[in-house]
Amino acid sequence: MATHIHLGHIFHIAGAPKVTEAAAALVSIPDGALVLDDGGRIAFCGDRAEIPSEYESGTVHDHRPGFLLPGFVDTHVHFPQTYAGDSYGGGQLLEWLTLCMFPSEAKFADPEFAQQAAVEFTNRRISAGTTAAMVFGSAFPHAQDALFTETQKAGLRIVSGRGIQTVGDETAQPLMTSEEDAIRLTREEIDKWHGADTGDVDTALLHVAIIPRFSLSVTPETLKNLGELYDEVRDRGVYVHSHLNENNRPGTGEVDSTKETYQVNSYLDTYDGKFLPGSAVGGKSLLGRRTILAHCVHCQDVELERMAETGTSVSHCPISQLFLGSGTMPWKRTVASGVTISVGSDFGGGDEWLIPRVLGDAFKVHITEAGDDGVSMHPAEMLFVGTLGGARALDMENRFGNFDAGKEADFVVVDPSGTPTLDGLLRNGFRSSDPELARDQTLFALLMGIRETSITEVYVAGKRAKSS
Ligand code: GUN
Ligand code: ZN
Repeated sequence: MATHIHLGHIFHIAGAPKVTEAAAALVSIPDGALVLDDGGRIAFCGDRAEIPSEYESGTVHDHRPGFLLPGFVDTHVHFPQTYAGDSYGGGQLLEWLTLCMFPSEAKFADPEFAQQAAVEFTNRRISAGTTAAMVFGSAFPHAQDALFTETQKAGLRIVSGRGIQTVGDETAQPLMTSEEDAIRLTREEIDKWHGADTGDVDTALLHVAIIPRFSLSVTPETLKNLGELYDEVRDRGVYVHSHLNENNRPGTGEVDSTKETYQVNSYLDTYDGKFLPGSAVGGKSLLGRRTILAHCVHCQDVELERMAETGTSVSHCPISQLFLGSGTMPWKRTVASGVTISVGSDFGGGDEWLIPRVLGDAFKVHITEAGDDGVSMHPAEMLFVGTLGGARALDMENRFGNFDAGKEADFVVVDPSGTPTLDGLLRNGFRSSDPELARDQTLFALLMGIRETSITEVYVAGKRAKSS
């Protein structure tokens, strides 16, 4: 790979700030240049007029008047729900799972169907500029093989694992396995795919996660066994992913049902080895720097504190929370806890693949939170949770997430002319005479207005991602 120079208006969040420091770390370079070295890393990010002389002979890709943004990071998206967005079944989470999701996901038992879905899923990611993702996988190993194979062909990053279920009603039956198979299949997936593309997890694009669907889909025995498995493979950089405190509809809510089933006061305890008899000394925890828990709408302070303490991250999925009537992750309280916040599309609980659409709904739900909890997210905070925050949640902030020199070059090219509404917003929208506010207004318009039609090129570690 030779040196490449990409020109456009650059936005990114520099350094390694907290979400509350994102505005101060926001970088906007209207006449910007992103220079990639021959290894696909960021050699220079700055003003076009200041490109260091050693790079001046690089191949120029002139995207002006377009924009260059870090690749989007989706930390919660369901592969076996590729064809299940907008599913109508009446009711909230638990009814929707039984009526719509389990039957939809059972279709992946057919290898041809699963293969076609893997191609579709990967293409949707490229269209949406999602360069890195934590992907909740299919129960079927052949479907996971197709997903990893297609992702590798496309050149995207992925962390994924088969969705583990060992208990449920007859609609869940096709997705369930015995206790033994739950551990065996998970171990086999780790051995087959974790770091498989380069043979080194620190340079790989492919990684594996242990994914119990949620506490109600597995038994205490499964969680105990998975805790032991994780204890064995944690040092290999394996991930953990699941759902937490998503829906608490009175009477039939997931949160109360979980506490009742496991006889715990805190849902998080079920992932922390604490539901076991003699819990304080007992089961091994699934929490840690490589664990991401989706939703966290109804967390107690003690749960948020424990997540922050262990380095466990939140995947905030506002579109899906609206669709399933789950409520809103409390922004101020979650930020105050110090836990890392990233965002997820949660497609098919959500009905959009595009992370900026998730950010748009995050803005809307948080400004609507009651009383003093209502907050107008800064556009830099929106960009942060959709890019650098996601890289941090994946524990790969040292590799991607912004345009700091030396990082692997993950970025999207945005051409506003592909989306007339966005084009109009950027050309003719009112901008303040205060340059800082004008900058923020432009970034906000960009994040709110981007659609798949605006994203023309997608790069991971300096290489262009390829659809099939
Ligand atoms: N909790 C358990 N399974 C699921 C799922 O498929 N989607 C969502 N949104 N929540 C879940
Ligand atoms: Zn989900």
